[in-house]
Amino acid sequence: MTTTYRIAPSILSADFARLGEEVRAVIAAGADWIHFDVMDNHYVPNLTFGPMVCQALKSYAQTPAGVAVPIDVHLMISPVDALAASFAEAGADLISFHPDASAHVHRSVQAIKSKGVKAGLVFNPAESLDVLNWTLDDIDLILIMSVNPGFGGQSFIDSALRKVEQARKLIDASGRDIRLEVDGGIKVDNIRRVADAGADTFVAGSAIFGQNDYKVVIDQMRSALN
Ligand code: DX5
Ligand code: ZN
Repeated sequence: MTTTYRIAPSILSADFARLGEEVRAVIAAGADWIHFDVMDNHYVPNLTFGPMVCQALKSYAQTPAGVAVPIDVHLMISPVDALAASFAEAGADLISFHPDASAHVHRSVQAIKSKGVKAGLVFNPAESLDVLNWTLDDIDLILIMSVNPGFGGQSFIDSALRKVEQARKLIDASGRDIRLEVDGGIKVDNIRRVADAGADTFVAGSAIFGQNDYKVVIDQMRSALN
């Protein structure tokens, strides 16, 4: 079976004064998902944007032909449930959270799914995958952090590759359709290694928005994958 790879540009590195245009431009350049990093200055030492911004961008998250492009919300917030519900109402297509940010992980997953939105769990560089033993049947996405959450432009942490391999084994053994996404420090020159470890979805912020021509970077990433 051939893997369908997805590239999810993180608008954390976009021009915040022109976010709608940036979303449009990166989709025209070939983005498959829009990665939306939510930070609360509590779970992580940085502060970004909330559900109102997600809602404002929803109408921009479509291809020039009018096909909807999923908004992939990565919550770096604690607690999780109330804002997750707000993001579901704001048009998020996938909502992921860090298990250590929720007192009741299973409940938070159910809270997201009850809104008809796909649910994901995110694992920091020093966090093990143990919670998946009890949640794999319920989730749609596993997100492996290859940097510490909070900022764009950091260097890829190599031990994430071992964790991606572990997660791939768990997904394959489950037989379920679960996306395996990696976030942090992904560039044209390391994306192939991340795919070889088992990832199928790739977040990239600074690597894409740090260049003038987003299409050139996304094309280079895709040709590294194919
Ligand atoms: C970091 C965020 C990432 C960030 C990645 O906390 O979760 O999504 O935007 O940025 P780069 O690709 O620059 O490492
Ligand atoms: Zn992220």
